[in-house]
Amino acid sequence: MEAKIVVGLQWGDEGKGKIVDYLSDDADLVVRYQGGANAGHTIVINGKKYVLHLIPSGIIRGKLSYIGNGVVVDLDELLTEIEGLKKENISVDNLKISSNAHILFDFHKQIDAFEEERKKELSIGTTKSGIGPCYVDKYDRIGIRIGDLLDKDVLIKKLSNRIKNYNEFYCKMFSANKIDEKKFIDDVLKKREKIIDKIVFPEVFAKYVLDKKMKILFEGAQGSLLDVDFGTYPYVTSSNPTSYNSFLGSGIPPYFDYKVIGITKCYATRVGNGPFPSRMEEEFEENVRKKGGEFGATTGRKRKCGWLDLPALKYTSFINRTDSIIMTKFDVLSDLGKIFVLTEYSVDGKVLENFPENIEKFEKIKPVYKEFECWTQEEVDDLKKKKISKRIKDFVEFVERNVKVKITHLTSGQDRNDIIKL
Ligand code: IMP
Repeated sequence: MEAKIVVGLQWGDEGKGKIVDYLSDDADLVVRYQGGANAGHTIVINGKKYVLHLIPSGIIRGKLSYIGNGVVVDLDELLTEIEGLKKENISVDNLKISSNAHILFDFHKQIDAFEEERKKELSIGTTKSGIGPCYVDKYDRIGIRIGDLLDKDVLIKKLSNRIKNYNEFYCKMFSANKIDEKKFIDDVLKKREKIIDKIVFPEVFAKYVLDKKMKILFEGAQGSLLDVDFGTYPYVTSSNPTSYNSFLGSGIPPYFDYKVIGITKCYATRVGNGPFPSRMEEEFEENVRKKGGEFGATTGRKRKCGWLDLPALKYTSFINRTDSIIMTKFDVLSDLGKIFVLTEYSVDGKVLENFPENIEKFEKIKPVYKEFECWTQEEVDDLKKKKISKRIKDFVEFVERNVKVKITHLTSGQDRNDIIKL
């Protein structure tokens, strides 16, 4: 039995969806272990584009797909995705949801929006999907879990308590409209009917998976630099996208060998606020954004674009215990004239040995760049013929030497067939 953990080594949007889809051929089970509908995993199969926010990408290949306890589940989004997949004749019979996962409600989204507004210039730039407030409920121990859907009476009692609490505190705090308790409960009861047969108990499910010696693929969402503990706090998401959380967030204990596969673009992007030391000059950024379709899959916001940031990549490769790297989107940097890699962070003339430990240090960083010869689109096309040009090779080997992790695949386009094994 073995497992693969796919993690983003940047600020999300590294192209993980496509890689998970590619690797899922060889998996029996695909697992989401954190985050929620803030993620947007895009998969293109034979020119047809699928965007999933909550359901593991493996569902498209008919794989057993599991939403683990570490995920916060927006019922509306879940049902929309289920309907969308059914319309495409993709079965959702293989979708299972942990009874310990928390339910994300509309009011979490409202709180998210209120909080962002309140923070003004200190706002995080969240996706306003309610992620933070739902995790707050979880850790405040007032959350409602998927398993609560199983018992109607218990559910009604818990919903009623939570709504009373919302109406009492939040409505006063933000002068928000009160939630109509009866309407709210009726709505949840309707949705309950549609997912109740997908609920599983974590211990039972984990034992089943281990007994069957399933090959597991853990699908990280967001990226390591958005990790609530190890990312650029406070400009992070509210979960742990890093590799070790795959076990905690799924309840599948690692009684098996596993490999961590880190995904990075050959450049960098960030959406939302917070430090981004390698940001490109405007003329490059516009070009890269357009070519790379660098707009948020969930919010449509423009992503900031930057050069590959080696200190950040070394850090995230280390904290995830990354065994190998897949580097994506080589087509996007083609024919740009010149390209750069941020090689070092310098503060007061001294090179930083470690990744900055707090946000204040980021403000003092002076990035040091190395220029690389830019490859052409023909060179990118040649990758599919297993021909790797000197320019691409130099770039890849430079990154490998510095990060000390093997780069095993490159990607040259959106399609599943544009993944090249080195
Ligand atoms: P939240 O996760 O919606 O609370 O947003 C917190 C931060 O994470 C913001 O900067 C978001 O833009 C960012 N973020 C959340 N999900 C993703 C993602 O899937 N890709 C890239 N950035 C994300």
